[in-house]
Amino acid sequence: MNDIRTNYEKWYEGDSYYWGKEPAAFCDELAALCPPDKSKKVLDIGCGEGKDAVYMARLGYDVTAFDLTENGVRKTLKLAEMQGVQLNAFVDDINTFRLNENFDIVYSTGTIQYLFDENKAGFFDKVRRLTKTGGLAFFNVFVEKPFLDLPPDWDKEEKMWKSGELFSFLADWKFRRIDEVIFEDNSNGMPHYHCMDTVICEKMND
Ligand SMILES: C[S@@+](CC[C@H](N)C(=O)[O-])C[C@H]1O[C@@H](n2cnc3c(N)ncnc32)[C@H](O)[C@@H]1O
Repeated sequence: MNDIRTNYEKWYEGDSYYWGKEPAAFCDELAALCPPDKSKKVLDIGCGEGKDAVYMARLGYDVTAFDLTENGVRKTLKLAEMQGVQLNAFVDDINTFRLNENFDIVYSTGTIQYLFDENKAGFFDKVRRLTKTGGLAFFNVFVEKPFLDLPPDWDKEEKMWKSGELFSFLADWKFRRIDEVIFEDNSNGMPHYHCMDTVICEKMND
């Protein structure tokens, strides 16, 4: 088992939720663009302990979610049960997963930095195939800046992306929002800065 699998399995072991249970604001942003109902399908790639996947199920989407960690998936299913919703969650790897479904929203936050370089182009081809025409994709990724140090809890399997690299993989989608922001983070009790690229885009055609 490699280090990153070990780290997240360990961080997710206990009863408390490492990332909390509050959903990211992006979920409401997506819901405003693609109003939820049971016929709308969402895929959450790298769902962690499920805070966003479960929230989207609560909003009314039909949600599928996966993460590399068994503890993350177990806690995603537990959170769904506690909040009275159902979703499909399983262990899988962003580098190798296969799905034969189409989704209205393909969503991934804080995870694509675990894509191996050689898998990036194939991953975005897969995202294109998995997204319905007119459907949305949401991604964010940490990008390198010469004036920012690596975060203190950065894992050796995580890879900083280049500024704008994420947007280039989605260049023929319609951008609904793109931005690059620098923000302060206090994870692990050590204040530090990240630079993050974010995109919400719409698939125009096959
Ligand atoms: C920063 S966390 C974000 C979790 C979740 N999206 C959230 O916002 O709460 C990154 C997640 O990526 C998952 N991860 C790391 N490598 C992965 C891989 N190769 N395939 C799938 N998930 C992976 C980790 O287990 C972890 O849950």
